[in-house]
Amino acid sequence: MRIAWLSDIHLNFVPHPEIEKFSHKVADCGAEVALISGDISEAPFLKEHLNIMAKSIKFPIFFVLGNHDFYRSSIEKTLNLAEEISSNSGNLVWLTAEDIVRLSDNTVMIGHESWNDGRIGDYENSPYVPADFFMIEDFMGLDKDSKLKLMQSLADKAAEHFKLTLPRACQAAENVILLTHVPPFRESCWYKGKVSDDEHQPYFASKIVGDIIREIMRDHPSNNLTVYCGHTHGGGKAQILNNLIVYTAEAAYEKPAIQRIDGIK
Ligand SMILES: [Fe+2]
Ligand SMILES: [Fe+2]
Repeated sequence: MRIAWLSDIHLNFVPHPEIEKFSHKVADCGAEVALISGDISEAPFLKEHLNIMAKSIKFPIFFVLGNHDFYRSSIEKTLNLAEEISSNSGNLVWLTAEDIVRLSDNTVMIGHESWNDGRIGDYENSPYVPADFFMIEDFMGLDKDSKLKLMQSLADKAAEHFKLTLPRACQAAENVILLTHVPPFRESCWYKGKVSDDEHQPYFASKIVGDIIREIMRDHPSNNLTVYCGHTHGGGKAQILNNLIVYTAEAAYEKPAIQRIDGIK
């Protein structure tokens, strides 16, 4: 079986005929499953854009959301929307709401959006202001401390999710795929070919998710975990442990791309 991994396709910046063209390209790439690690579009257009993709791609499309998918809406409303899209479509599956998905005899998959948690780098002194703060209703009007608390509570939920699902996924199969939007380690926050600096790390990495998955994989040395994530738009590969590898997507606005086509056993 082959999987096509997409990430940060930001379809709100892509004209409809181009979205259709891109969808056909995915449909014909030789994969039997597509995975999307978030930043698919923006909330008001998410349903329409995913449905355009699902019209040409007849195989299952598993997705998690990215921070941009919550833009022009709230967190709760967008999570409900993801649920609705997933339950009204035959082949669009919001992976966060699923338990463990079996892809083959030896490979299972889990996923969750996750969130950058400000726990790596210098949140206090970073001059960087992500668009999340004025594009997602929940962040609007909060002071810097409250924004950090909200980011951390979102990341903590992802960590809880993986704490429950990852050990069971390791019991279920030798190889586990974890789909998430936010890179879980400092080393997986690629930006322009380098690991990003301390000013960007608070907004790029989810430390709590990284800590939990590293701990679980140390306890499961005979399993292999492959993480597919995006968010930083700088591509790279980070080997965190012998049995834990993270691929971060290279992405550019207006140019949706297939990141990798990987064969699974
Ligand atoms: Fe993105
Ligand atoms: Fe993102």
